[in-house]
Amino acid sequence: MSGVRAPAERVWFAACAALGWLLRSARYATVRIDDEDRVRLVRKRRLAHAPLLIAMSRPLAAVLDTGVRVLPHREWVERERQLHRCLRGASVRVEADGTLVLPYLAGEPLAALLDDPALAETERQQRAIAGAVEALAALHRRGITHGDAMADNVIVDRAAGVSHWFDFETVHDARRPMAWRRADDLRALLTTVLARTAPGSRAATLQRMLDAYGDEEVVRELAASVAPVLRRPLAFHLGQAALSYRDERAIARLVRERSELRATSAAPGAPRA
Ligand SMILES: Nc1ncnc2c1ncn2[C@@H]1O[C@H](COP(=O)(O)OP(=O)(O)OP(=O)(O)O)[C@@H](O)[C@H]1O
Ligand SMILES: [Mg+2]
Repeated sequence: MSGVRAPAERVWFAACAALGWLLRSARYATVRIDDEDRVRLVRKRRLAHAPLLIAMSRPLAAVLDTGVRVLPHREWVERERQLHRCLRGASVRVEADGTLVLPYLAGEPLAALLDDPALAETERQQRAIAGAVEALAALHRRGITHGDAMADNVIVDRAAGVSHWFDFETVHDARRPMAWRRADDLRALLTTVLARTAPGSRAATLQRMLDAYGDEEVVRELAASVAPVLRRPLAFHLGQAALSYRDERAIARLVRERSELRATSAAPGAPRA
């Protein structure tokens, strides 16, 4: 690397990390879990300033080239309705003040399971990660992408052995190729998991996650998207997963090595891996 490039990359990274922190701090909604007629449900209500934040996020998303947008209220309601119906046959109600009443999903968010020090490095965490990846791959096979596929937005139900993606406020730009949209979801999940994984276990966790996802075309797209530090969406990516420069670079390198290794072993005449 040239002598000028490395400091320039670090300055860019620091600026993106600061903007990422701001993006992460923005709150759009409050969530309350209620019991109504002995049925547990979730009430999600947008805050008064949400429409302004969402309007402001549009030009920023264009500048950062994020490939996603946060939906305005009416489109958000429609998407939650459509996805809860199609994924779990559940209905979504809207109250007079615009509050969404969503089905309660039993279990725990993957992020909470990974943040629990009592579960650090356990088989249970590994199973939860694999379940979330498999549920994402299943979503993708149905032609759906999430748009904000962080470990915070998937609930792992250990008792039932299933994982449910939720929080459908953000949507991918439909003009982006499907492989790009899938890779963006995979990036969000991978980085938010690895940000919560001990450095010594990251390489093995990454390999297991990409194996469980099982689509090398998407892994190639992912490797290309995270390769440059000087990329426009870096602030958005760091907003999802607060990684240090070193960790972000190490993850990008691991994805690239994995993708290159698979490409080599798939080449005609190459020995089988
Ligand atoms: N359908 C659900 N079933 C069970 N728990 C839920 C459900 N929806 C939300 N939760 C709980 O509420 C938390 C926050 O929900 P959600 O991810 O929808 O909003 P948010 O990310 O805080 O809001 P935003 O992304 O709009 O800033 C989740 O991490 C989860 O613990
Ligand atoms: Mg969320």
